[in-house]
Amino acid sequence: MAKAMSRKSLQKTIEDDLSAGHSSKGKIIALDEGWLPQVCRIETRSYASPWSKESLAVALSGEYTVIGFVKPDRALAGYLVYHGVADEVHILNIAVDPDCRMQRIAYTLLSWVHNHAKAKGARYCCLEVGRNNQAARKLYNKFGYKQVGTRKAYYHDRNDDALLLTLTLT
Ligand SMILES: CC(C)(COP(=O)(O)OP(=O)(O)OC[C@H]1O[C@@H](n2cnc3c(N)ncnc32)[C@H](O)[C@@H]1OP(=O)(O)O)[C@@H](O)C(=O)NCCC(=O)NCCS
Repeated sequence: MAKAMSRKSLQKTIEDDLSAGHSSKGKIIALDEGWLPQVCRIETRSYASPWSKESLAVALSGEYTVIGFVKPDRALAGYLVYHGVADEVHILNIAVDPDCRMQRIAYTLLSWVHNHAKAKGARYCCLEVGRNNQAARKLYNKFGYKQVGTRKAYYHDRNDDALLLTLTLT
């Protein structure tokens, strides 16, 4: 996972992966800058301190890999930002439109990244989550993420600790 795939190759890989990415409720696609307004909308509806428009634009421009779950009408329901470093994949952001939650969209996006990263030779998937973010912690628990560290009061805005979680991709 050391080198980011081109968006075209990523899209081809996703299209080939019919089992994980596609369902009658929508499909996973690689996102580019054209999706910025929809990504911003979900981001600001999901976080008290959202990533800025500029940060999201940088992520979508290819600095990181961004995949999204789109509904049959092409509306964006959720997205995931990740980055491959050596044999690790870092999940940097995942958010689902509040109107589309609890439909296994985050689960589908994360499953795809785990499978894709493993196929590319990654061994670990790492992320940070707020101690008080029960929905996200339950999501990561489902996959078997383990806590490997804590950053005290990392999220100043909401006086919350960050838990560092890792999943071994077996
Ligand atoms: C966390 C988040 C991404 C989950 O998205 P989602 O698409 O609703 O989650 P899924 O439907 O895929 O849920 C998968 C599992 O996670 C758990 N889960 C997700 N949301 C939950 C909630 N609100 N309460 C309890 N469990 C929840 C459940 O175990 C669920 O499994 P189940 O379907 O068997 O019950 C979404 O709530 C969100 O965007 N939150 C704001 C942004 C955020 O906090 N991102 C994480 C940063 S670390």
